[in-house]
Amino acid sequence: MTDANAHPHVSSDGKFALIHNGVIENYSQIKAFLVSENYTFKSETDTEVLCNLIAYHYAKMGAQADGQSPFLESVRKALHHVEGTYGIAALCTEHPGEIVAARKASPLILGVGDDEYLLASDASALVSRTRNVVYLKDGELVHIAGKDFAISTLEQADVSPVVDRIDWSVEEATMDGHDHFMEKEIFEQPLALENAMRGRFSADGSTAMFGGLNLTPEEFRNFNRFMFCACGTAWHACLVTEHLIERFARVPVEVDYASEFRYRNAPLDPNTLFFVVSQSGETIDTLAAMREAKRKGFRVLAINNVVGSSIAREADGGIYQHVGPEIGVASTKAFTSQLLLGAMVALYVSRLRDMSFNDGVDYVNALRGAPELVRRALAQAPRIKAIARRYAHYTDFLFLGRLSLFPIALEGALKLKEISYIHSEGYPAAEMKHGPIALVCEKCPSVFFAPKGEIFNKIVSSMQEIKARKGPVIAIATEGCELPPGLADDVIEIPDCHEAVLPIVATIPVQLLSYYIAVERGCDVDKPRNLAKSVTVE
Ligand code: M6R
Repeated sequence: MTDANAHPHVSSDGKFALIHNGVIENYSQIKAFLVSENYTFKSETDTEVLCNLIAYHYAKMGAQADGQSPFLESVRKALHHVEGTYGIAALCTEHPGEIVAARKASPLILGVGDDEYLLASDASALVSRTRNVVYLKDGELVHIAGKDFAISTLEQADVSPVVDRIDWSVEEATMDGHDHFMEKEIFEQPLALENAMRGRFSADGSTAMFGGLNLTPEEFRNFNRFMFCACGTAWHACLVTEHLIERFARVPVEVDYASEFRYRNAPLDPNTLFFVVSQSGETIDTLAAMREAKRKGFRVLAINNVVGSSIAREADGGIYQHVGPEIGVASTKAFTSQLLLGAMVALYVSRLRDMSFNDGVDYVNALRGAPELVRRALAQAPRIKAIARRYAHYTDFLFLGRLSLFPIALEGALKLKEISYIHSEGYPAAEMKHGPIALVCEKCPSVFFAPKGEIFNKIVSSMQEIKARKGPVIAIATEGCELPPGLADDVIEIPDCHEAVLPIVATIPVQLLSYYIAVERGCDVDKPRNLAKSVTVE
């Protein structure tokens, strides 16, 4: 990053300033044209190209804007020539008091405040000033002029604005006494889980209920496959959901990275129900995967946190996570609520099929108990902090788990690498002997998930293989569980719980471990280098 490449960019005639989120794919052709028209450039950015293209159309238009604002029309004309994605806001020296903003495949929200308008790509940036917002749609422009604003499309059609109300408060977007948003969001998970499940169990307490699926139970029952697409942490949540649906409902599930699905043209059974999972609802790959699935005629449901996001608006139905804004770049409460909602979807499908009433009641009671179990896992924080201090200097980590905790091993490795820049890999514990074991030595700790259950002894054997090669071992084990003496250098206990709740509870120690290690290393936890909260470019 250089000063010259930093936004805002200014056109070479000095009249326009532009900020831009997204990628203009055909910028080099446009730049070549503008250079031939004597426009000059100070940076290497596509944004400066777009800014000069607006200036070019403005200069060409003169007063010929058909009664429309020449500022607005020059932005509209320029956007007709660009390929790619954008959320932009432009100023013009000849139109003081005006802003023109537009979006295509990058989020853009207009805040309607008291005597002011605000533009942002995320509602959390606006909420301290206003909770009244307009979620702009793809291909829409907003022209703010003094006290008024007007929305229109690229094709010059007027749009009646719909002002929505953000349903969370400014307090939820502040750190509330914590050192970082990530820390706050880790510790508010019991409440987040309560909010995510509130009102979503049937009156007889034997199944889940969702208001926004736009499918009858009969229609839902008739799907014989499920496909889940997501990115990053949300993809890990899908892997756990796959495990639970297949385990309890015995319906086949496929999970794919959204970025792969959109290009690989997978053959899908026509009777497949498609899910996308995204905290932000703006991840471009997930949005594109969803559009591709819809284009092929599949019904798409979204599990999503941000109300009014692009994914929420375009899905055929869905389930809001209701966990409030997640500000830390590292996803925490959004992840555990996705695990919870995935477990609830598994319950819903199971009860539509073969699961008995009594098993449904047990499952529901287990889910209702999840917030309390998470509180107990969080109570280990001081111990995990002390462990983190002793491990913060290592440069390589393995995270190893099996079955529903294999995705949690992936999540632990992702959390650690994204906020502390330590190389870490998640693996199925038994798969470790097929390659990663070569990394094991006194310099490479392994974090093992060792919950009690059928394969506990197999996990112990894998731990023994690590110990035999002098690898330090941190075990995340069920309270009261007897690990052979000397096998683990450190043990973090988690409460015993139902299979559907175990992944949620087991996530807490790896979130805390990653967080405290990153703090110990002096990393910028909430804004790790090279990462954005929502990835709106391909
Ligand atoms: O907003 P989304 O859930 O679609 O985001 C997907 C990923 O970009 C996100 O989970 C990312 O992996 C996080 N930084 C992980 O902590």
